[in-house]
Amino acid sequence: MDLPKLTDLDVSGKRVLLRLDLDCDPDPNELRIKASEETLNFLKEKGAQTMILSHRGRPGGKVDESLSLKPFQSIFDKWGVRVYENLRFDPGEESNDLEFAKKLASMGDVYVNEAFASSHRDHASIVGLPKLLPSAFGFRFVSEIENLSKVFENPKRPLLFVIGGSKKDKPKYIEFLKSMADLILIGGKLPEYYGDSALESIRLQKKDEKLLIGNLVQDKEDITLNSIEVFEKEVKSAGTIVLAGPMGKYENPGHMQGTERIFKAVSNSTAFRITGGGDSLVVIAKLNLIDKFDWVSVGGGAMLEFLSKKTLPGIEALQKQTN
Ligand code: 3PG
Repeated sequence: MDLPKLTDLDVSGKRVLLRLDLDCDPDPNELRIKASEETLNFLKEKGAQTMILSHRGRPGGKVDESLSLKPFQSIFDKWGVRVYENLRFDPGEESNDLEFAKKLASMGDVYVNEAFASSHRDHASIVGLPKLLPSAFGFRFVSEIENLSKVFENPKRPLLFVIGGSKKDKPKYIEFLKSMADLILIGGKLPEYYGDSALESIRLQKKDEKLLIGNLVQDKEDITLNSIEVFEKEVKSAGTIVLAGPMGKYENPGHMQGTERIFKAVSNSTAFRITGGGDSLVVIAKLNLIDKFDWVSVGGGAMLEFLSKKTLPGIEALQKQTN
């Protein structure tokens, strides 16, 4: 994929609008913050005047002080940049309002997208800004694309997806991923979205289907021991694994078992291993598994959407601008 790169954009002395994904804790060790460092260093060296743009959480177009980006300013002070307030405090961000995009564009000369994790959203700061300003992708964004593309460019088979968490848009991605995957294991809250029968017995939905839906324990906050064992067996024989989301409510120690065993099984496998997404990042940090993966993506939904469609709204918006 030919992506417009930061090195191709004239940023020297320019006002740069740098879109990051700061939907994380204001902690300098957060992967989403560390992942932006190479781009921030480059912009500093070039003497750019950088303004960071990001969303945090889902405040729904209203100011919610608990989701302010103010606590992030001190983390970025060493690069001499300013952090703009949470974009989603304004309804124009999520509705991709042209006037809102123009207001943002007036604060910069060029736009850099270093927010891979948000680039599946057709929001003003993702798809609106590249139409208004000369634009490029940050260094981490390009690495995300290069590494994730290995999953669909001649992967070592069997290609296994292990998908958990609770976001309601995941079944949509699972439908797309079926054509490329050899098998998809489903845990977390997702078995509930597939109907009650999934709770009765672990099974392949149809003989030639690619979905293996985990059983949930009685309170539905973890997968059962039987499901854990069946999943572990599949993980062991996979050639490539994409792990996206916890298998249960891992924040509660009583419901950590499925997540811990499956994440450890993936870490110990000989497959090409990829993981990503906010909760998965928390789990691998907690279990100290960060070095056990071939690639740790900053994106959750964005990673699954990119793997399903081989592109994202944020990629298309920027490619159109340069064509
Ligand atoms: C994420 O955490 O996956 C991104 O920040 C996107 O967040 P969203 O699902 O609220 O758009």
